[in-house]
Amino acid sequence: MHTLIYAHRGASKEAPENTMPAFELAYQSGADGIEVDVQLTKDNIPILIHDENVRRTTTGTGFVQDYTYKELSKLDAGIWHSEKYKHTKLASLDDLLQWNLDKQLKLNIELKNNLIQYKNIEEIVYRKLVEYNMVHQSIISTFNRNSLIELNKIDKNIVTAVLTSKQRRNLIEDSMQLQANGVHIRFRLLNKRLVEVANKNDMFVSVYTVNQSIWMKKVFKYGCQGIITDVPYIANQIKSNF
Ligand code: G3P
Ligand code: CA
Repeated sequence: MHTLIYAHRGASKEAPENTMPAFELAYQSGADGIEVDVQLTKDNIPILIHDENVRRTTTGTGFVQDYTYKELSKLDAGIWHSEKYKHTKLASLDDLLQWNLDKQLKLNIELKNNLIQYKNIEEIVYRKLVEYNMVHQSIISTFNRNSLIELNKIDKNIVTAVLTSKQRRNLIEDSMQLQANGVHIRFRLLNKRLVEVANKNDMFVSVYTVNQSIWMKKVFKYGCQGIITDVPYIANQIKSNF
């Protein structure tokens, strides 16, 4: 199988995660797709940020859900990474989708709703994908099982993936019951048998966050559907040998 390379939060080693410069670098490095984390602002705008609290990756403090989009837009989301990216703003899902209109990269949208339950986040994100005609090139993944059920009610054709960071005995069976199309597993959980069982059941396996060449090689060798990496340019180099 031709393994797709997804830039994790964009090319997040080289540029601040989940921001437009990180997406642009991912595109330039030849990534097939981009993985992003989505949460909702106080006024229900889907915004791309990993942590529930803005403190680590912006100049602000407090929770994403307590800020309006306008307030969040005033924060600097680049200076924490390096001086070069000072004045970089948080990106909204709209910013990414608008930018992707002429790039047409694949998208892996992770709903970051395992700790905070954002009301209707599934519907809000799905509607955005419909608006930009990007449903067909997107996978929605989440650690939240209820969200997977909800997504399936909204559109049973949307491609979804169960995220897991822990070893689970019946991962594939459970994921099939949730009517997900695949699983996104932490790299240490990767083994050949899991990929075989998944594929036999028409399920795909993608692996995160794979930054070391030894693990990248395994992902390509086992024919996983996707590799989610902070360093897409390195994954691309290694992939060319397979
Ligand atoms: O989507 C894969 C991966 O991004 C999940 O973990 O914490 O990096 O969002 P995290
Ligand atoms: Ca993520």
